[in-house]
Amino acid sequence: MKSKCIYLDNASTKKIYPEVIKVMQNHMLNIDGNPGSVHKLGEEARNALDSARKSIADNIRAKAWEIIFTSGATESNNLALKGLAERYNDRKKIIISSIEHSSIYECCQELKNKGYDIIEVPVNEKGYLNISYLENIMDKNTLLVSVIYGNNEFGTIQDIGRIGKICRDRRVFFHTDAVQSLGNEKIDVMAMNIDLLSASAHKLGGPKGIGFLYLREGIDIIPIIQGGGQEKGRRSGTENVAGAVGFAKALEISVGINKKKVIELREYFIKKLENMNGKINGSRENRLFNNVNVSFPGLKAENLLIVLSERGVMCSTRSACSEKGKKYNRILSAIGLDEKDINGTLRFSLSEYTKRKDIDYTLSIISDYLIINKNF
Ligand SMILES: Cc1ncc(COP(=O)(O)O)c(C=O)c1O
Repeated sequence: MKSKCIYLDNASTKKIYPEVIKVMQNHMLNIDGNPGSVHKLGEEARNALDSARKSIADNIRAKAWEIIFTSGATESNNLALKGLAERYNDRKKIIISSIEHSSIYECCQELKNKGYDIIEVPVNEKGYLNISYLENIMDKNTLLVSVIYGNNEFGTIQDIGRIGKICRDRRVFFHTDAVQSLGNEKIDVMAMNIDLLSASAHKLGGPKGIGFLYLREGIDIIPIIQGGGQEKGRRSGTENVAGAVGFAKALEISVGINKKKVIELREYFIKKLENMNGKINGSRENRLFNNVNVSFPGLKAENLLIVLSERGVMCSTRSACSEKGKKYNRILSAIGLDEKDINGTLRFSLSEYTKRKDIDYTLSIISDYLIINKNF
């Protein structure tokens, strides 16, 4: 986009870092082999893939061979849930939170049709999982608990270490969808007792179409894609080596960005929105560093979104993956928002590129809109 663009939709996808393009281009221009080939060019591609794998694994304190490259987090989530369900099919109960991304939720609907018992654990109005409910519902028949790390709509970050410990003590597998948190939160799969974790490169300044599933050593899954047996038989198909190289670079950069500055800007934005009678959704304490989710009950937020977009500000009314077609917002309903609140909700997701003047400009558009539409 060449005209004025204030991009406040980084939770949908983040602009790829120039350094990422550079390493990917360098890889594609110079290393042309298939990592599955025995010859020298194949070996070079294999080395590039392995070093990306190692660098990503180090970031979450995993071992390199515990990282399975996929096409993105949707595939990783499907592989985690379906792959485990099929492998350990003597246990039929799967527990998820009520605020999971559609790639977990829809996957569970399919498993439900196949006879699995899917239990949704509620969250409170700030979006925190009801942990005692979780503890009470777990039993000998429970295969897996899957809880989103940081919510992609309203930003609340769960106590993943605590949930992991509960699951480990009861010998139940624990999966987390860490798409919005990787690179932004300190993740330690060992200390947090995480068995499986999904992530995606394009949310942190990497390329689209590459993700991974961390699968703790010793846990088996049935692959959902059959073929040449790549990724140790767990995900067939020639690996996206350039994508993996770009993912590793994006993760390295993300870890180093100045989050404190973004948090200050987020808080400034939140305060100003509250001064306009905006209701902030999600936790104020444990929140994704860049997330602002605000409701103006009674307002038609979709119209405001279009006005913002026409004036160069990009944000969203809900997550991009659930944007099309669906009127009902399962996630915002789960934290107690009614239809009026939901229809009046906007999500802004900042980045290190966001400037104070961008926020002021955005606020001025919102303020003008609210004055003109004061009887909403
Ligand atoms: C929390 C969460 N999980 C999963 C996904 C799906 O990721 P991908 O686009 O890599 O399939 C997204 C993307 O919006 C997300 O925000």
